Formats: sequence, structure tokens, C-alpha cells
Amino acid sequence: MQFNSIRFKASVFYSTILAVILVVFGTIIYISTSYILYRDLNHDLKIKAEEISTILHVYEEVRQFESHPSGYTLGIFRKGESGSINEKAIIDDLWRKEFNLLNLKNDYINVVNINGVFLLTSNNFTEDIASLFREQFPFSLEKTVYKSVVAGKIKLQVINLPVSYYSSRLAIQVATPLEPVTKELGSILFFIIISALSLLILTSFAGGILTRAILQPVMDVSNLADKITHKDLTLRVQEQQTDEEMRHLVSSFNAMIGRLEKSFSHINEFSSYVAHELKTPLAIIKGEMELALRQERNSEEYKNVLEGCLEETDRIIRIIRDLHLLAKLDYKPDIFKFEKFNIVQFLNEIYEHSKVLSSSKNIEVKLNVPKKDIFINGDTIHLRRLFLNLINNAVKFTPQKGEIDISIAIKDSNVCIDITDTGEGISEENLPKIFDKFYRIHKEELASESGTGLGLNIALTIARVHNGDIKVKSRLRQGTTFTVVLPLA
Ligand SMILES: Nc1ncnc2c1ncn2[C@@H]1O[C@H](COP(=O)(O)OP(=O)(O)OP(=O)(O)O)[C@@H](O)[C@H]1O
Ligand SMILES: [Mg+2]
Repeated sequence: MQFNSIRFKASVFYSTILAVILVVFGTIIYISTSYILYRDLNHDLKIKAEEISTILHVYEEVRQFESHPSGYTLGIFRKGESGSINEKAIIDDLWRKEFNLLNLKNDYINVVNINGVFLLTSNNFTEDIASLFREQFPFSLEKTVYKSVVAGKIKLQVINLPVSYYSSRLAIQVATPLEPVTKELGSILFFIIISALSLLILTSFAGGILTRAILQPVMDVSNLADKITHKDLTLRVQEQQTDEEMRHLVSSFNAMIGRLEKSFSHINEFSSYVAHELKTPLAIIKGEMELALRQERNSEEYKNVLEGCLEETDRIIRIIRDLHLLAKLDYKPDIFKFEKFNIVQFLNEIYEHSKVLSSSKNIEVKLNVPKKDIFINGDTIHLRRLFLNLINNAVKFTPQKGEIDISIAIKDSNVCIDITDTGEGISEENLPKIFDKFYRIHKEELASESGTGLGLNIALTIARVHNGDIKVKSRLRQGTTFTVVLPLA
């Protein structure tokens, strides 16, 4: 896995989120457990101190403790010594029972009087413990105080419980080792850390596998993209097996390959058309020249050959010029200079031009336009080319003494200009093809007409740049109507 891969980033992202969650969760568990354990410990300490207080209360000689400033060690901690004095024996007996009951074995007990004198201590009181009690333990005759005391290895939880017996005010101090609590907290911490770490490792591992599975379609797409070359654009990524989110990417990718495939085949087809179209006039030029050179010719014959060559060269130039224009229309629509103009007046000029074009074939041109002005936005130079292409076709494909009608109508927010001829017409199967580049219906028969088959394609491209369209209706041997639709200004 690479560091800058999505898989790595996703794994790190998920693991970080999980780690934060685990740390927060673990801390909450640790703190609440610690709170509960300390609360229970303090509760136990309070019960112990209260029980000790009860015993001391029933012991009549409490006052006597005060009179013994040197203190008195509870007999229970001196097993075997009990029994010599009666009262003491009773107390010792009580203590013994209580000692067992309260589980005071590991605890330190101290009773302090108003002057801070230790009246009564448990017999596990060492010097260290005594000084700890003196220096760090809370002493108050007013309120109950809890404290955790840590001194080196000694860790204790202490309660100071103020009590009064008759006129005496005393404080009972009980200290119990913190070890069980710290041990418990330690094992909880250990458990939290171990489970958090194993969870983290497990989820980052699972996350890696999961992101790999999620990103598999991306890998599929890129693997497929590696395989796609201009030689094989038929490959597609399977859409059905991918997830909803990926489906969009996959379908966009497939659609892009589809478009590329289309344009590649279009380019292939187009270049073979161009090659073919250019090959014919060049072959004619070559043939004519070879024929002329085969034997001595008079100047008239040479002139004919040169005229033939000139004609074919003109044709080549025309093809190149048209192709250049089409390329410009496709890729540089900014060559259009749009302006608002009166289409009625514009059609009058086209009409004048048409009359000249059609005169050689005795074709009558009629113009049927309203007297009012109709304005559209467009590039007059290119629109002139559009209409002249259509008129040229009408003249070219209409026999002698035919008729061409130019009329105009407004439909919705468009102006529709019809150019109708009484020519040979176009069969239904050819209608959809006539706008294709280089498509000519009678390629061979009408070679004399010397069209390139680019005229309608140029016209349609110009109409589309104007947000318009060209429609065609035709009946064989009756005539054709081309309708140019352009939006009104
Ligand atoms: N008015 C029409 N009547 C009958 N057939 C037509 C008409 N206009 C076009 N066609 C058919 O559509 C074909 C394509 O027309 P297009 O104008 O693109 O090419 P062209 O006229 O042959 O050559 P050029 O590039 O010189 O215009 C024509 O060759 C012709 O077969
Ligand atoms: Mg034409």
C-alpha cells in the first residue's frame, strides 16, 4: 500500500477516528470505574470508622484514654495478651469480633483527641506510619475528611471521622491500603489498552480490506483504461456489478470511451473519404498528363489537357477550402460575427443572386416574402453561404425550365425559410444521409456536376451555430423542400 493512495489515507482516517473514540471511551470507563472504586472504598472506610466509634462509645473507659497521653494499643492486635484485665478483656473481645467482621487486618486505626494526641492506635502502627499520620493525614474535629496519601511505596486511603463521647471530642482516623483499588484500576487500564490496540489493529486491517473492496471498481476502470488504445475502443467496464456511487463514474467513463470510439471511427471514415475524394482528381490529372506525354501533340491538344488539369486542380482546391471551413466551424465558432439584420431584405438579395445562377437552365425563381421587416441575429456572410448552397443544389438537381420557390413564415419564436424546387427529388432511404460529409446520391452519373458532397454539411453546421436547424422533405421526381429554421431576434 502506498502512502499517497486513497486506501492508505482512508485506513489512517478511519483508524484515527476509531483511536479517538477508543481513547475517549476508555478514559470515560477508567474515570467512572475509578470513581466507583474510590466511592466504595470511602464508604467502607466510613462504615469501619463508625463501627469503631460505636465500640468506643460503649467502652466506658473512653475518658480514661484521654488520661493516658501515652496512648493505648488495642488489644486485638496483641493476640495472647488479652484476658488479664476484665474491662480490657471485654473490649479486646469486642475488637476481635469487630476486627474479623470489618476486615481491619491491613488497616491502620488511630484515635486522636482534641489536642492531637494519639489516644489509641492499632498495633500495626510503625514509626513511619505514625509520622505519616501526623504529617499528611487529615485531622479535623469538625467534619469528615477523606484523603489519598502516597508516601513512597505506601499508598493509603484515609478517613477522618469526628465523634463526641460525653464531653470528649475525638477524631477516628482509619487508613486502608489503596493497593486493591490501584490493582483493579491497573488491570482495567491494561484491559482497555489491550482491547483498544487489538481493535485498532483489527479495524485498520479490516479497513484496508474494505477500502480495497470499495475501490476495486476504480482499479477495474484504471486497468481497463490501460488496455484501451485507439486500436480497440470496444472495451467497456461492467456497470451492473458496481456500487451505486461508482456506477455514475463507470457510466461516464464508458460514455467517454463511446464518444471516443465514435469520433475515432468518424475520423477514420472521414480521412478515407478525403483520401478518396482527393485521389480521383489527382488520378485524372496524372492520367491526362501521361496521355499527353505519350506522343507529340499539337498546341490545341496540350491546351485541352491543361484545361482538364486546371478543372481538377480547382476541384481539389474547393475540397480543401470546404474542409478547412468545416474544421473552422467545428472548432472556432468565434469566427462568426453576429449582428441583428432584416432577413426579408437579406432574402431579396439572395433572390437576385439566384436568378443569375438559374438563368443558364431556364429555371424560374419565385420569392414569396411579406412586406414587413423580420429581424434575426446572425452572421450574414455565413448565412449567405448557407442559402447559396441550398439554391445551388436546387439549380443543380432541377432539370431545365423547372421552378424554385423561396418563401418565409414565422412559427413560434422562429423564422422558417422554405426553398422548394421541382427537381429530381431524394428517395426516403437517402434523405437521412444527404447531410453527411461527402455524401452524394449520384456520385458516378453526375460526375460532371462535380460536387464535393460537403455543401449541405456546411449549411447545417452554420444553421446549428445560429441555434437553428435545416429540415428536408422530398418526393422522388417531384421536388424537394429544404426548410431553414432560425430563431427570431
Ligand atoms: N435540391 C436537391 N434535390 C435533389 N437532390 C439533392 C438536392 N440537394 C442535395 N441533394 C442531394 O444531396 C447530395 C448532397 O448535397 P451537397 O450539397 O452536400 O453536395 P453536392 O451538392 O453534391 O456538392 P457540393 O459540396 O458542391 O455542394 C447531393 O449530391 C444530391 O445527391
Ligand atoms: Mg451542394
